Amino acid sequence: MTVYGSFPGARPRRLRTTPAMRRMVAETRVHPADLILPAFVREGISEPVAISAMPGVRQHTLETLRKAAVEAVEAGVAGIMLFGVPADEKKDGAGTAGTDPDGILQVALREVRAEVGDDLVIMSDLCLDEYTDHGHCGVLDADGRVDNDATLERYAEMAQVQADAGAHVVGPSGMMDGQVGVIRDALDSIGREDVSVLAYTAKYSSAFYGPFREAVGSSLRGDRKTYQQDPANLRESMRELALDLHEGADMVMVKPAGPYLDVLAKVAEAVDVPVAAYQISGEYAMIEAAAERGWIDRDKAIMESLTGIKRAGANMILTYWATEVARWIGRQG
Ligand code: PBG
Repeated sequence: MTVYGSFPGARPRRLRTTPAMRRMVAETRVHPADLILPAFVREGISEPVAISAMPGVRQHTLETLRKAAVEAVEAGVAGIMLFGVPADEKKDGAGTAGTDPDGILQVALREVRAEVGDDLVIMSDLCLDEYTDHGHCGVLDADGRVDNDATLERYAEMAQVQADAGAHVVGPSGMMDGQVGVIRDALDSIGREDVSVLAYTAKYSSAFYGPFREAVGSSLRGDRKTYQQDPANLRESMRELALDLHEGADMVMVKPAGPYLDVLAKVAEAVDVPVAAYQISGEYAMIEAAAERGWIDRDKAIMESLTGIKRAGANMILTYWATEVARWIGRQG
């Protein structure tokens, strides 16, 4: 009798015969509700500004941002993560524009919330780097080093101002020690227990952030290696994870996504909270650039990259392709 546990009885290719068969046995699906659109809004412009290293992504005006939010809702996207780009003259050492109720991000949060209400999860980047004239994610001490605990006070204020402006979720991305706990306390102290914290738990010091720095007009010279993680480390992420959960993180994130799928898989296995992954600007730029040269099939490469991130364990994916991909998936039914 034939033995079916091995070839020629066992033939895995039988489940790959037709598109319908492959669709049925697929273990991983990317759904529009998994996707979160990161979006940039810039103060003082009347037309959107193209970002050269991210073809297809723009710095929005308030008006085009509202439109992008509506399009995201229509496509079934889960959420939007907003980044503010203040006018250059508004930048200072303390990142004051980040806590000004009339600062660009706060205005944008109010407008997007008024436009789409609760139909989209509205998230705000909680970090000082877009607002500081030195470009660091925190304030500096007398010796020019990033001052962790002084920065926490600024983050506490930012969280309150962003919650007031309409954020459902705040996303602290600065990698200061203790940031999640301080933000949770700050929100609770003004009665905003309803606002969630998406912790950037494992955020690596990555060369792939390059295009983002153009997107937010970053003033940074040097690097962020004293606060973001060393790409060589995996165990360290588990320590960051334990601390964030202890401090009250509602959701956790791994960033970048593609080069850190092992970190993502390990975090996803360890937790009982939702896990996000951020497919960052450089990941976007690489696929767009190769596709532009005709070296890869753009749409297939995008889908494959997102499927890989989902397969590794992400519940949610922040991706600049969110609305476009959600539309493709919608069309396929
Ligand atoms: C810092 C921040 C960065 C990104 C999101 N938040 C850049 C950095 O840490 O230098 C990167 C996002 C991307 O590259 O798409 N506020």
